[in-house]
Amino acid sequence: MAEPLRIALAGLGTVGAGVIRLLETNAALLRARSGREMRIAAVSARERHKDRGVDLSPFAWVDDMAELAARDDVDVVVELVGGSDGPALALARKAIASGKALVTANKAMVAHHGAELAAAAERAGTALKFEAAVAGGIPVVKALREGAAANAIGRIYGILNGTSNYILSTMEATGAGFDETLAEAQRKGFAEADPAFDIEGTDAAHKLAILAAICFGAEVDFAGVTCEGITRVRAEDIARADTLGYVVRLIGMADLEPGEDGTTALLQRVRPCLVSKGHPLAHVTGATNAVVAEGNFSGRLLFQGAGAGAGPTASAVVADLIDIARGEIGAPFSIPSAEMAPMPRAEAGHRTGRTYLRFTVADRPGVLAEMTAAMRDAGVSIESLIQQGRQEEGGEVLVAMVAHEGPERNVQHALELLRGSDSFTAPPLSMQILGD
Ligand SMILES: NC(=O)c1ccc[n+]([C@@H]2O[C@H](COP(=O)([O-])OP(=O)(O)OC[C@H]3O[C@@H](n4cnc5c(N)ncnc54)[C@H](OP(=O)(O)O)[C@@H]3O)[C@@H](O)[C@H]2O)c1
Repeated sequence: MAEPLRIALAGLGTVGAGVIRLLETNAALLRARSGREMRIAAVSARERHKDRGVDLSPFAWVDDMAELAARDDVDVVVELVGGSDGPALALARKAIASGKALVTANKAMVAHHGAELAAAAERAGTALKFEAAVAGGIPVVKALREGAAANAIGRIYGILNGTSNYILSTMEATGAGFDETLAEAQRKGFAEADPAFDIEGTDAAHKLAILAAICFGAEVDFAGVTCEGITRVRAEDIARADTLGYVVRLIGMADLEPGEDGTTALLQRVRPCLVSKGHPLAHVTGATNAVVAEGNFSGRLLFQGAGAGAGPTASAVVADLIDIARGEIGAPFSIPSAEMAPMPRAEAGHRTGRTYLRFTVADRPGVLAEMTAAMRDAGVSIESLIQQGRQEEGGEVLVAMVAHEGPERNVQHALELLRGSDSFTAPPLSMQILGD
């Protein structure tokens, strides 16, 4: 049998401890499948004596995790610390520069610095792998880089954040409001004490930028993702969507737009959408993630599974270690980084589609006429309109409408015409409609 694969683990939290458990539990199977023993040589975290539920005594302890990159008894550094910059990035750069392979679950770091790290890994002739950074336990990076590699991907999209999906699908099941459901998700451990990254769409945007780079061969462009979270979705929106045959999901979506001058532009968006109950993503509930890739020969591919958690994320980390043990390096984003260039950003307004619009309006005469006039002037044709009866004298009234298929630019224009009007008690919410 070949030499053991010698591993350094930086970060011994949820994922780090999960990786240690997996390497122990499945040791024989991993040896058989990779042809090598997987041996942890050294570990590092902040607090040496914290009980992590795993035995660290067989491994060398390193206080300064940057030192892991310089050790002679290490082939692969596994970065499970987190944070787009700071010590995680310093470690990643140092490990690659020292010719060591790098495995990371850090989507923020890959979304911000993936292009730089990939180029450095290729120069050093070593591996950079980040299966766990996208959709946790779902092997979607590998599926796109390898299984679906023969296809031109038309569109990549999905439910990329488990916390948001848990909140939206719980609101759907209980009829409860956003704040109440978020608080319950925090109590149950499905949302962090500071949930901003999840509910504002940033986490999904990190993953989308990585997926888009793999699918379209463009340099990772996290700053190019337009991002809107779920904080403004109300119980009433979910109820209206249900009546119309839809559910509400936070969808990250990327696709290409051919320009008139022969160039191609990339459109990347994370936003809540109405998803037809006939679409597979409508049935993805709880903290699950799901990714859809549309290949020109494969057709629609759907990947679904746990997007987070110690076990699923460790499964993805160790899958990368198996690849490295087998000597499978490959270009981190599927094509060599020298061939990946920044791609122009497409303008969303060119797109056509159906849109759900919700207004909360003051209960007084003339407001509906004001709204429908703005729609008419912007060229938006209304397919259906639901007005929720007043609950109390002078209270707010909820008006939901569905706009016929048409340019998104027109809907934006209508909302601009209404901006600043004192008829509204809150800014309007618009959500794209995703058909079957
Ligand atoms: N949790 C998930 O389900 C999941 C899923 C997919 C991807 N990820 C990604 O995986 C990574 C790790 O996530 P996690 O949930 O395992 O995080 P975590 O539980 O907070 O663990 C982070 C670990 O990093 C250590 N650490 C933090 N700052 C450090 C520093 N300056 N120097 C040395 N060690 C430091 C911590 O040490 P102490 O323990 O001593 O404080 C801890 O062991 C993140 O990039 C995350 O986005 C996580």
